[in-house]
Amino acid sequence: MSVLLEIKDLNVSFTVDDKQVHILNNVSLEINKNEVLAVIGETGCGKSVTGSAILHLLPDNAIVTGDILFKGKDITKMNEQEFRQLRGQAIASVPQSPSTSLNPLMHVGNQVAECVLENNSSEDDKKKTVAKVHEIFASLGLPRGEDFYQNYPCELSGGMCQRVLIAMGVITHPELLIVDEPTKAVDWALRKDVVDVFCELKNEMKCAMLFITHDIAAAKYVADRIAVMYCGEVVEIGPTDSVINQPLHPYTKGLIASMPSKGFKVMNGFMPSFQDLPKGCRFSDRCECTSDICINNEPEIVEIAEGHFAKCSIYKNLNVSELFKHAATS
Ligand SMILES: Nc1ncnc2c1ncn2[C@@H]1O[C@H](COP(=O)(O)OP(=O)(O)O)[C@@H](O)[C@H]1O
Ligand SMILES: [Mg+2]
Repeated sequence: MSVLLEIKDLNVSFTVDDKQVHILNNVSLEINKNEVLAVIGETGCGKSVTGSAILHLLPDNAIVTGDILFKGKDITKMNEQEFRQLRGQAIASVPQSPSTSLNPLMHVGNQVAECVLENNSSEDDKKKTVAKVHEIFASLGLPRGEDFYQNYPCELSGGMCQRVLIAMGVITHPELLIVDEPTKAVDWALRKDVVDVFCELKNEMKCAMLFITHDIAAAKYVADRIAVMYCGEVVEIGPTDSVINQPLHPYTKGLIASMPSKGFKVMNGFMPSFQDLPKGCRFSDRCECTSDICINNEPEIVEIAEGHFAKCSIYKNLNVSELFKHAATS
């Protein structure tokens, strides 16, 4: 499978009150062409910072090191002018919430068309773009035609507004779509609808997706692979089925056990502050398997089953056959 996006040792710190707070610690991820990678983890673990780093949307107080290669080119080294050729074109994002991202005073069709039209676009380009908007609305299960195009956001249901936002992300047929918490602002009834749209997108538009969510059930439904983040680090990554059904990292096990379908067992404790991190494993103060090694040493990320990695000292001293046995029985 060919790699579309490769993030290597991404570190992000923010300068706050003249102090540097280190948020992302050596985050490494890959997204293959046409693949959906979900990034899950509790609020504040660094999911959105990762997405914003890819989109060059971090604020001025951010210090970024590491490489982000899109089709082999390092986008962290591009200046804004170079990156603007990619953002909104080959790399696009879906805004998070209809209530803050749609203009209440503008026809929804024009809001989507505006994503590709420039001030000096010709009449011919405008006509072609309007036709494209109708086509994308139809492919997202929205009504085709002028009546729908000319609606204002307040005339549409929450689900329809969400689909308009998705149309804004996909109108350029991006190769990579970054979607941050698409189910966060929608109620329970609509959640399935939103998740279904992303499944349809995955099958029909064939673009790769970074699907950022704290909603594990949504990730399970949409993603090919899942990366689990805890406190600024990727602690587990692997095929969706393996991560959900054979989680390896104690944190992932806790997250899965907290899903309603898996028993709703709430995990003990809270994520530590980025300004006061444990010396060794960042999960050590909440983990049921903590030993001295965990308290004193940062664990390495180890491949335990094919394509399934975990950053946990439990696996450090197991040999290959024990690792696979552990993966099969855990
Ligand atoms: N501009 C910023 N300045 C300082 N800290 C920030 C900034 N943006 C995000 N953070 C911090 O980075 C951490 C990760 O945030 P974020 O990526 O938004 O989490 P989430 O996983 O919920 O998306 C949080 O502790 C947040 O407070
Ligand atoms: Mg977020």
